[in-house]
Amino acid sequence: MKYINSILEAIGKTPLLKLNKLGSGIEANVFVKLEYLNPSGSYKDRMALAMVESAERGDTWNGKKLSPGGTVVEASAGNTAPAVALVCAAKGYKSKLFLYRYYFAKEVDARFKIVQAYGPQVEVSSDPEAYLPEDLLADFVEKHKDLPHVIAAKRDCCLEEERNQNTVWVDQIYNNANYRGQTEIGREIADQLDGKVDAIGCSASSGASLYGMCLAMRERGIKPEMVFGVVPGGSEEYIEMEKSEGKRGDFRISRLKKDVAKAMGLEKWVTEKSILEQLIDDGYPDVFFRVSDEEARNMANRLCSEEGIYCGMSSGANVAIALKIASRMKKGQNVVTLIVDRRDRYLSEYPNDKYVV
Ligand SMILES: Cc1ncc(COP(=O)(O)O)c(C=O)c1O
Repeated sequence: MKYINSILEAIGKTPLLKLNKLGSGIEANVFVKLEYLNPSGSYKDRMALAMVESAERGDTWNGKKLSPGGTVVEASAGNTAPAVALVCAAKGYKSKLFLYRYYFAKEVDARFKIVQAYGPQVEVSSDPEAYLPEDLLADFVEKHKDLPHVIAAKRDCCLEEERNQNTVWVDQIYNNANYRGQTEIGREIADQLDGKVDAIGCSASSGASLYGMCLAMRERGIKPEMVFGVVPGGSEEYIEMEKSEGKRGDFRISRLKKDVAKAMGLEKWVTEKSILEQLIDDGYPDVFFRVSDEEARNMANRLCSEEGIYCGMSSGANVAIALKIASRMKKGQNVVTLIVDRRDRYLSEYPNDKYVV
């Protein structure tokens, strides 16, 4: 008999698909790792499991340990939340998940319903005004778009952890277990391509998926000609670069995140080193590409209608760049990227003008 004993055993071991239609006419091969086939519908299942298991061991930045009956807290735009909720459901923990107010009107968004199905407590995060002094409020909210909402949600998590025993905020942006969980994606790719990886990359928000893949390549002694990062158009508050394509030296992490975190009293985010900072300090990626919403959405639609891959815009952005890189490479070279999530979570807003990473 061949069966598994927990849904958690179904995480990972995703197929690697060669894009024969979208990649036709291009000499190099383009491969996509079908991470949307993970149980909750995105690659975040891997990191959610790794973060919860780290918390069980007390391997957290502040030494806080998750014990039976405990609660896991996190804030998310829509992929980490169901992943954490799924892992907690399977392991018997409670979870409390804050979804960014910026994105949601409670109860109507598909992502709310998807998360709720796993039985956690789901909240819309606080309005940034709860944490911002009045004189800064208008300026910050106007200038920095979603950033004050993201920080407000993280502050909600931080307070939740401080106020409750046996409650751990897993903090995906600063938690090294995040990239440790995502490293397995790179190991699987290395095995699936017998180590022949010429270019590899994906979208970067926390940067953990990209960093995990880079660390796996290093671990296996694979030196791709190019490691690429993908950032959405209009996200200059995270990665700054003058043009739509920037080599090392041409891009930098914006200081804004730390400035907003400081103004809103999220001390940890000011003093600790984020995964994105670690990624860049460690020499990755070689190039960042910025992709417009339109390009990402069109490619996601094409992946769906031409290849049968039911994915969201972030995957569209990844593939748009992978195809661009492949068109500059030679016959037989392998370019790899990720199909990060399933399109169902965007049903109440897709197609639209948002680009959610
Ligand atoms: C749809 C989507 N794309 C990209 C990302 C970025 O992944 P990472 O945080 O590993 O950089 C995320 C998560 O933050 C996501 O949900």
